[in-house]
Amino acid sequence: MSQTVSSASTGLTLEAQIKAALGGRSVVLVGMMRAGKSTIGRRLSARLGLPFFDADAEIEAAAGMSIPDIFESRGEADFRDGEVRVIARLLDGGPAVLATGGGALMRKETRDRIRDKAVSIWLKADVDIIMRRVKRRSDRPLLQTADPEATVGRLIREREPVYQQADLTIWSRDVPHEKIVEECIEALHRHLCGVTEARGGMGVIP
Ligand code: S3P
Repeated sequence: MSQTVSSASTGLTLEAQIKAALGGRSVVLVGMMRAGKSTIGRRLSARLGLPFFDADAEIEAAAGMSIPDIFESRGEADFRDGEVRVIARLLDGGPAVLATGGGALMRKETRDRIRDKAVSIWLKADVDIIMRRVKRRSDRPLLQTADPEATVGRLIREREPVYQQADLTIWSRDVPHEKIVEECIEALHRHLCGVTEARGGMGVIP
């Protein structure tokens, strides 16, 4: 839709302006599991004409096993160390859109690196939306507990103060994915280019 919308002042699409203003930095999506980071990230990367990486998939490829298997055979601490290394490598690799795992931002090295080399977007989802999505597919090792809902609640409480440090916050909710992507584009444009284009983003949280 907006690929054909161009700014009157520059003649460039918003996407082209964002890409230029990123100046080699990446766009990193952070937030709780099942907030939609990979789905939105993949679509956002297509809109911006940047490569897309999913940190979890890259960790699995590097380890040669699935995330549940890494947790089981090596433990969470080892998984977290691998996560720090993989995200560092991806951020060093040039501009891209990167979806991170829900716990990635809890490591200070990763937070610092993202601050230096990227613009971060927190996809903020309510606990009931996360729970509904988790129930549909509950393969997350951290949720193999007696009370997954209580675990999600605790993780949200622990993590939200950290997610709040992201440059931008977009409300992830049950609307068409393209709408959330559109709101990411608007928020990135406003953040990087300092211009507000009125395209009606309801989910951009100031
Ligand atoms: C985790 C989230 C998962 C994955 C791992 C740990 C977390 O990624 O990295 O299971 O700590 O919240 P998603 O956020 O993509 O589900």
